[in-house]
Amino acid sequence: MSSVRSQLRLPAGIDADSFLRDYWQRRPLLMRAAMPVDGFTLGADELAGLACEPEFESRLIVERGDRDWQIRHGPFDEADFSRLPESNWTLLVQDVDKFLPEVACLIDSFDFVPAWRVDDIMISYACDQGGVGPHTDDYDVFLMQAGGRRRWRISEKHYSDADLLPGLEQRILAHFETEQEWVLEPGDVLYLPPGVAHWGIAEGECMTYSLGFRTPNQQELAADWYQHLVSLCGVRRLRDPDDLPGHGPSQLTEGVHTLAANLLSALPDTRSDDFRIWLGRYLTEPKPQFQIMPPARQWTNADLVDWIARGGDLGRHPFARLAWQRLSETELVLFYQGEDLRLPVILKDAVSLIAARRRIDNHAVARLLKTTPEFCDLLLRLLNQGIIEPTETA
Ligand code: SIN
Ligand code: CO
Repeated sequence: MSSVRSQLRLPAGIDADSFLRDYWQRRPLLMRAAMPVDGFTLGADELAGLACEPEFESRLIVERGDRDWQIRHGPFDEADFSRLPESNWTLLVQDVDKFLPEVACLIDSFDFVPAWRVDDIMISYACDQGGVGPHTDDYDVFLMQAGGRRRWRISEKHYSDADLLPGLEQRILAHFETEQEWVLEPGDVLYLPPGVAHWGIAEGECMTYSLGFRTPNQQELAADWYQHLVSLCGVRRLRDPDDLPGHGPSQLTEGVHTLAANLLSALPDTRSDDFRIWLGRYLTEPKPQFQIMPPARQWTNADLVDWIARGGDLGRHPFARLAWQRLSETELVLFYQGEDLRLPVILKDAVSLIAARRRIDNHAVARLLKTTPEFCDLLLRLLNQGIIEPTETA
């Protein structure tokens, strides 16, 4: 795995700041020759191999005729592939970055967009005319053309659930009005914000890597936040108020409302540190299958010093989700895998180094250990939880 991967080559006149201001979550952007093609190393047969493994989530989508789509879920076997038609099908494998470091390191090319929102890299292989049909996604996506050619059509018209083909598990639009279209060549990247309808059709065999982002909706945020509040609640009961009416015993008085409101207003609100910490934990929560186990042998201080002295690099576990936030003048909080760790602000450079990169360079670690000895305890803790790991034998 190469330790330094080039950043995405944005089109002339657009830099990271103007991309974030003018395109991110707003408008599609086609980026020609934005990535080196030698970064896309997986072959079609290897992708099919992954789709036969139970730990990979995979789908086969076959377009059998007008409005007739067949969707099957993996794991597959060789016989499934040998029965496929000559054209009009595609194989999709999710979360490939979690298992293949050479795929995960492609994410570093996009280090100017919010890293804590990255979901996964899905890889698709399509034979001629294959695709998943016209649809909208609820999240941002960078569609990287890894091999072959694919025609992408997009439409910024608003489509709703009423526009979907009925009775299908896959969300496919029944009608699609093409507003723009391009043929993507290897190395081209198309950015699409959430909600822009798109339809990719392979022209000959092709492979596409999709870097997808997560976005919780209001309902999901509320469900988790209010569940968190419930977990903080005690069993103190509502008492009767002082303004009980002597007549009309079934009347709910203002006093009842006030006492009920007081019971609830004792809970943290969305301006509290409790909310900030809950949010960081929620946003770094992994999918259930991507929990991280501690290493078999615990690291000691001496092990760490020795590893760094011998030039060893450290890297983030491929399942790890990290983010951090400044809480006050003196305190920050590092979030990982749905957990939080409050730290003194002196560790800010160390925390941003760990959270920013998949691979943590030996020299940067050595430098920080010298200037900030507190970094040693933090690294040991993360190593012993499996969040950070040695990348190669030093
Ligand atoms: C694909 O790779 O075929 C699908 C990507 C997408 O439409 O989001
Ligand atoms: Co899509």
